[in-house]
Amino acid sequence: MMQKRPFGLATLALAGAAILAVPAIAQNMEAIEKRQQLMEDNGDAAKLGGAMLKGEQEFTADKAAQVFSQMHDIAMKFGDYFPEDSKTGGDTEAAPAIWEQPEEFQAALVKYQEDTQAAMDAAPQDIDAFKQAFGMVTQNCKGCHEDFRLDKD
Ligand code: HEC
Repeated sequence: MMQKRPFGLATLALAGAAILAVPAIAQNMEAIEKRQQLMEDNGDAAKLGGAMLKGEQEFTADKAAQVFSQMHDIAMKFGDYFPEDSKTGGDTEAAPAIWEQPEEFQAALVKYQEDTQAAMDAAPQDIDAFKQAFGMVTQNCKGCHEDFRLDKD
């Protein structure tokens, strides 16, 4: 019995060290995964739009409406997934500027919401009208990524 005691203490000390090695800040993986999934869907919508412009997919007014309404839906939800505990973790590419300049990030979000709404209202019926609305909407991608997405490539 007496001999086992020091071993027990050493084990406890080791366990304590292991606990301390875990990062102190909990990472909100759920929020990170959720916002990345929304952006993946955003990418899919943009791909469908691009395919119609290239003639790889037949243009229809229905598909055009689908592209813009999906993007608008994403624009309305995306801002909900940036809690303080999701600044790092996983493979997030969210830039610190999102939390350092919240008003600018909010403005970029609102612009994306308004532009996708305007594209829905425009309801393009032919490829030329679609091209114009799609170009207006997709400027948001580049603009927001430049300011608020880390370039990890
Ligand atoms: C208001 C800002 C904003 C707008 C507008 C925006 N994005 Fe993003 N996007 C981000 C941020 C921030 C990330 C990084 C998210 C993360 O990794 O946590 C991102 C990441 C992505 C990703 C990678 C997702 C992944 O799986 O990691 C894709 C694809 C993407 N965006 C496509 C688009 C497309 C296409 C558009 C336009 C139709 C667009 N985005 C518009 C902010 C924006």
